[in-house]
Amino acid sequence: MIDETKLKNFLLKKYYRDLFKKRGLKSATFEILNSCNFKCVHCYNQNLKPCIMDKELAFRIIDELVDMGCESVTLTGGETTLHPDFVAIYKYCHDKGLKIKLFTNGYFLNKYFDILRAFPPDQIEISIYGVSDDTYLRVCQIKNGFTIVDKNIRECKRLGLNLRLKSVIMQQNYEDFDEMLTYCQSLELPFRFDINVLNSKDFSNNQEKNKLLPDEYELIMNKVRKIRTGNWISYLTRENMQSDGEYLYSCGAGRISLFVNCLGGVRMCNFAEFTEENVSDKSIKDIWQGFEKYLNLPKDKESECYTCEYKKFCSNCPVVTYMEHRTDGTKILPVAQNCREAKFIYESVKNDKQTRD
Ligand SMILES: C[S@@+](CC[C@H](N)C(=O)[O-])C[C@H]1O[C@@H](n2cnc3c(N)ncnc32)[C@H](O)[C@@H]1O
Ligand code: SF4
Ligand code: SF4
Repeated sequence: MIDETKLKNFLLKKYYRDLFKKRGLKSATFEILNSCNFKCVHCYNQNLKPCIMDKELAFRIIDELVDMGCESVTLTGGETTLHPDFVAIYKYCHDKGLKIKLFTNGYFLNKYFDILRAFPPDQIEISIYGVSDDTYLRVCQIKNGFTIVDKNIRECKRLGLNLRLKSVIMQQNYEDFDEMLTYCQSLELPFRFDINVLNSKDFSNNQEKNKLLPDEYELIMNKVRKIRTGNWISYLTRENMQSDGEYLYSCGAGRISLFVNCLGGVRMCNFAEFTEENVSDKSIKDIWQGFEKYLNLPKDKESECYTCEYKKFCSNCPVVTYMEHRTDGTKILPVAQNCREAKFIYESVKNDKQTRD
């Protein structure tokens, strides 16, 4: 009998492989500012110099992206809804025919119900950092956080907007995990979450206080294991990065997507700082061409990761390696939290298979 999940994964992979080969910009993630009303303990933007992109520059960038054939844009931050020209930028993207995905902490959404109802985005992705005001205070250092975000989530749902919720599970909020799942189920909203915490962009190496401790990690992953039995791949937010293909970079970054930060820096993806060039020096089209040198890099057969038995379940990549080890983007080296995750999944899949057999 045909295994439907395997067939679906195979066809999806083939579709993306063909698309990547053609190399053409389809989607962009656009950080319109890096400031925020929350002070999340894990935020990768912490300690960065605040920046808010000028509206006219944002319009120019959107024009260039559209001219290159870009079809969709993800507006992110910082907190997107805090941008003083949020409505103008949102409307500009809409008028240019771009599909819009909005990343937000949900706190100020009530200010924008009119525009969101009039010009609905493709999707709003709201981060939930817990299901109580106490947890929000611990994670986001904001008072009444859950009460306000919950109210806005319910109103967005009532308006029929396409919502998805997400979270990062850490020491400060893992005790809310079951209730987060129940919350999303009760609202019939899709939920995705990360357990790995990236280093901050200023490389302060300050995330150890947030990452789940070994027993907390086991507890959460065993819960995840029960929910996701047989389909671990769908748990990974970035699936199966290293398993096949000849190139070091095997995802869509620089092939079908790019990232623009609030200073006009254009990168292959949010964290690939080493690929950055600025729109004030070059057209985005030229910057895009320059990514080629990374995309052509072959896999390093000497790397420990190349022969690793867990790699099929590992979401490490040259950029994750860079964030951890400050490398130059030309190699993949072991990253402890990715090893922990890949090993756990590998062993769970093996045990589940043995139990089935
Ligand atoms: C930087 S925020 C911007 C959008 C919005 N302010 C929000 O919180 O959703 C985008 C997402 O990145 C996540 N994030 C922030 N710092 C992170 C880190 N160090 N590791 C993993 N995810 C992180 C946030 O939790 C959020 O879901
Ligand atoms: S809400 Fe988003 S941007 Fe703001 S501090 Fe938290 S993770 Fe960072
Ligand atoms: S990061 Fe760890 S688990 Fe992943 S491929 Fe490298 S050695 Fe293996």
